[in-house]
Amino acid sequence: MTTTWSPSTWTDHPAKQQPEWPDQAALDTAFTELGSRPPLIFAGEARNLTADLARVCRGEAFLLQAGDCAESFDVGTADAIRDKLKVILQMAAVLQYSGGVPVVKVGRIAGQFGKPRSSGTETIDGVELPSFRGHIVNDFPFDEISRVPDPMRLVRAYEQSASTLNLLRAFTRGGYADLRQVHEWNQEFIASSPIGQRYEELADGIERALRFMASTGIDLDTAAMRQVDLYTSHEALILEYEQALTRTDSITGDWYDCSAHMLWIGERTRDVDGAHMEFFAGVHNPLGCKIGPTVDPDELLAICDKLNPDRIAGRLTLITRMGADVIQERLPKLLLAARDAGHPVVWVCDPMHGNTFSTEDGTKTRHFDAILREVSGFFAAHRESGTWPGGIHVELTGDDVTECLGGGDSLQATDLGSRYETMCDPRLNGRQSIDLAFEAAELLRPGSIS
Ligand code: PEP
Ligand code: CO
Repeated sequence: MTTTWSPSTWTDHPAKQQPEWPDQAALDTAFTELGSRPPLIFAGEARNLTADLARVCRGEAFLLQAGDCAESFDVGTADAIRDKLKVILQMAAVLQYSGGVPVVKVGRIAGQFGKPRSSGTETIDGVELPSFRGHIVNDFPFDEISRVPDPMRLVRAYEQSASTLNLLRAFTRGGYADLRQVHEWNQEFIASSPIGQRYEELADGIERALRFMASTGIDLDTAAMRQVDLYTSHEALILEYEQALTRTDSITGDWYDCSAHMLWIGERTRDVDGAHMEFFAGVHNPLGCKIGPTVDPDELLAICDKLNPDRIAGRLTLITRMGADVIQERLPKLLLAARDAGHPVVWVCDPMHGNTFSTEDGTKTRHFDAILREVSGFFAAHRESGTWPGGIHVELTGDDVTECLGGGDSLQATDLGSRYETMCDPRLNGRQSIDLAFEAAELLRPGSIS
């Protein structure tokens, strides 16, 4: 960050993956409108997340970052939000009880609306239209009107984020996330499966432990028991949106991007001299950056120097997404480079984005086994390097969808058509998510050999 940084200096740098807004006046109106709206999060909450992530950095906690690939303006119902929260709470309970470490919970939620694309346009039957870039930009159907970038969608994204966050705050503060509700989070379609049964047994164990603690006179009716911190995060892609929600904190005078607690920079926009890096170097939120298979130690250190020059623990989370076949070969040298340079890093494994492929009929999917193999390779690389495998970053939904292959009920390519609902990448369904949590918890157990 230079001394002249301001929320608009990113405009002097090349910005990848930005829509071509057809109407500048409409964009200006949306930008001004967003600038007048209240922040979605407070700077103090972002600082609390940095402190929680510093614990992860020191090897004292584990990060679970999870949610949709792309949230939809059409699926913001209370049930959908609640069911996603349930799966995240279940996974956290599994990781915490079986893995034996506190779990920091961050949703890909309440703002995950922008999508980077491999091509700016999409062609079907000879018709070429702008690609779908997420509901914050345009609409999914393949027709001319839907695909025009509409700046009023920036305001709608803010509004849906606000209503989602409002409900999440009510659920996580109002008793729904109380550990004594651990059985209630198990939805019927999960509970009826073998992995759901395994979860029931774990929940029985938690209940017994709580009863035992209560019998010794420990007061369980405390905020720590009743409430949960669920932080929000999204890929900070559309820079006008992020800029408009960036405010100075009245306590410290520092800039915070108040669109979410944590923001991450994607694999396609992480150029060290690019606009996204420039913008995020100047805000004080905890940041993530995706690290794909081509990153070498020099580039890694340039990213660390740019985003975390003061080497603050918890400030920078590096989310590796290498692919199951290469992670064990490519990750260790990056782990050692950061360690030897004295850069505190929260290392997190995204086992989804390096393992996507298309079936014969062109359906985008991922196999549960490859996802698991990448997670195992991640843990193995950390054990080899003496560093802490800080967490997992996954795309999931609380629904019973059929988007990823394999898992407990061995979903086949022929099953994908029955409930394939994602607007972008394939997500784990509830059962596959709990399955992954049990597997990761095994790897986390002290003394486990990977
Ligand atoms: C994503 O997280 O949805 C994504 C697009 O990931 P990546 O930037 O790693 O490709
Ligand atoms: Co994705």
